[in-house]
Amino acid sequence: MTDYFRRHLGAKLLLSYLTIIVVGVVVLIIASQFVLPTTFNRHMAGMGMMNGMMGGQGQGLGGPDAMSQLYIDFRASFNEALMYAALAAMVAAVALSLYLSRSVIAPVHAMSLASQRIADGRYDERVQVRGEDELAQLAMRFNQMAGKLDQVESMRRRLIGDVSHELRTPLTAIKGSMEGLMDGVLPATQETFQQIHTEADRLNRLVDDLQELSRVEARAYELEIRPLDVFSLVRTVTKRLASQAELKHVLLDIELAPDLPRVLADEDRAVQVLTNLVGNALQYTPENGKVTIFAKRIDHEVQISVRDTGTGIPPEHLPHIFDRFYRVDKSRSRRAGGGSGIGLTIARALVEAHGGRIWAESAGEGLGSTFRFTLPPENRNSSKVHFS
Ligand SMILES: Nc1ncnc2c1ncn2[C@@H]1O[C@H](COP(=O)(O)OP(=O)(O)OP(=O)(O)O)[C@@H](O)[C@H]1O
Ligand SMILES: [Mg+2]
Repeated sequence: MTDYFRRHLGAKLLLSYLTIIVVGVVVLIIASQFVLPTTFNRHMAGMGMMNGMMGGQGQGLGGPDAMSQLYIDFRASFNEALMYAALAAMVAAVALSLYLSRSVIAPVHAMSLASQRIADGRYDERVQVRGEDELAQLAMRFNQMAGKLDQVESMRRRLIGDVSHELRTPLTAIKGSMEGLMDGVLPATQETFQQIHTEADRLNRLVDDLQELSRVEARAYELEIRPLDVFSLVRTVTKRLASQAELKHVLLDIELAPDLPRVLADEDRAVQVLTNLVGNALQYTPENGKVTIFAKRIDHEVQISVRDTGTGIPPEHLPHIFDRFYRVDKSRSRRAGGGSGIGLTIARALVEAHGGRIWAESAGEGLGSTFRFTLPPENRNSSKVHFS
């Protein structure tokens, strides 16, 4: 029995109401025991005096016997009324606790069942939100939490699918080449070994990228934000990629607005983002093309852009290119140096960690693309609008 009361909120509510009623009735009984005779006598004496004043009828309402009989009758009717009141209060307590069980305990119970089902892996579970009180808010937050869990779970599933798919391609190539070598179908030439090495290298890069992506997305790194000169940032990147541009016969140009403020950024991370964008621009721009790095201040932001005259991006792909493993043309990416589609995802996470935005623009296939990202300027307050 006590176990039942301990486990059920409805039973606890009923018990608390009944306790209050019992305490009230006991207090009333005790009070009537001690206070009632005195107050009764006082009232009766008062009435006797009034009778005396009005007509001088001797003993007022009668003798002492009549008075005690009157008191006994009054007491009995008082007790009867008290009993009815206590009964009515108990019925009200049961009704109220039933009502509360329905309106308070039912949603709590529903949430408890739903959380159990979520724990069992059914992430599409939701509870009904009724009304606007605290319980409704709790139900709404519960649904939000379930939605987030659902999202994380489907991301996890997709990630495992994507990663295994990405790993399979180079692994199949390596395995195939090795089997060809063992069977004597493939000649043991420098070229064959080079092919195997390239695929192994690709595998290595993919694992490095994945590791970096998980670090960046989990924010498992410290940003060392300092005022950073945009020109020196751009120079670091162009120096790093100059030989690649030269090799591809692509012109690498810089156009910075004259009174550009310094930006607040972690230097290594900013270099990483820009290297990613310029690296892509070089990768997706054919020979004799041009890649230009612009920077200007617009309102409260410094905008750094990388424009190329390369392959461009069809509009339907633009919203997805920052997604993990997304490539406009997978076969082209593989042929053109084996990109895994993680670079822009890392760049976006890094830019957003700085409080900036990153996006891409392209007029369409073959019409070049522009990638832009923003960083906060050193002194946001002295904002002036500049266009280069
Ligand atoms: N400058 C660009 N011009 C045309 N397409 C681009 C450009 N930059 C990115 N893309 C498209 O966006 C996709 C995603 O780019 P992202 O940098 O994330 O991956 P990736 O370059 O293929 O591989 P990696 O992970 O090695 O960088 C690319 O595969 C390419 O299709
Ligand atoms: Mg890339």
